[in-house]
Amino acid sequence: MFVLTGAGVSAESGIPTFRGVGGLWRNYRIEEVASPAAWARDPRLVWEFYSMRREVASAAKPNAGHAALADLERRLGDRCVLCTQNVDALHEQAGSQRVLHMHGELFKSRCDRSADPGTGGRRGCSRPPFDDRSKYDGGAELPVCACGGLIRPHICWFGEIPYEMDRIHRELERCTVFVAIGTSGVVHPAASFAGLARERGARTCYIGPDAPANTPLFDQVFPVKATELAGCLAVESQAIRMDERGR
Ligand code: OAD
Repeated sequence: MFVLTGAGVSAESGIPTFRGVGGLWRNYRIEEVASPAAWARDPRLVWEFYSMRREVASAAKPNAGHAALADLERRLGDRCVLCTQNVDALHEQAGSQRVLHMHGELFKSRCDRSADPGTGGRRGCSRPPFDDRSKYDGGAELPVCACGGLIRPHICWFGEIPYEMDRIHRELERCTVFVAIGTSGVVHPAASFAGLARERGARTCYIGPDAPANTPLFDQVFPVKATELAGCLAVESQAIRMDERGR
């Protein structure tokens, strides 16, 4: 089973989504806070945005949706792949151990002269991404690497290549059930994963209160909130068991 999560999974934990009412992109301009051009123009503003997000995410606790997904991993082991567009750590806090963070991790930073995790392209600094819960706002000094580069959030910005894509494509090719949860289906490449899995014969389903933009790619839609997803996962796990019996 390949599970793709989006901001909706963390909404009931108090972390705002991007596009809904009160969503982050209703109050901030992507090109000013979440792009390489924004970083080049005003790294202080970028760090203020991610410091605010660190503050909000630090206070959040995993909800029943995160817990149900951790439980799924315990039951299915490596037959379950959890890929998230979320940069918070709530899946890990709920007990998920093998999370693919395709858009990066909020509580990590890296040197802006280190290798690009999306392309693997080498740059001048060899320091790997590191854990960092610091906030750099309100006129605080911007963090600088020993090599002289600036420390940036370990986040995949617009215009950059998402992380772990080779692994993600391998898992999409082998999954028999694909489940997307709480994602609006407008940001690519994640929005195309359901189509790729379905072309390979996987059954696809969506769990979330609103129909996503890529609804035609799903065989079934469960119109429920993330905290109610456990019942839907039971249906999908059953599909896996039936699929395995049929082999
Ligand atoms: P969006 O804000 O685009 O969509 C959030 C989805 O969550 C919507 O479809 C809502 O219907 C759904 N939702 C809201 N409350 C929910 C709940 N309680 N339970 C389940 N679903 C709920 O967020 P994403 O699709 O995750 O990228 O956005 C994808 C990417 O766009 C993000 O990773 C981010 C953003 O720009 C980057 O920053 C690179």
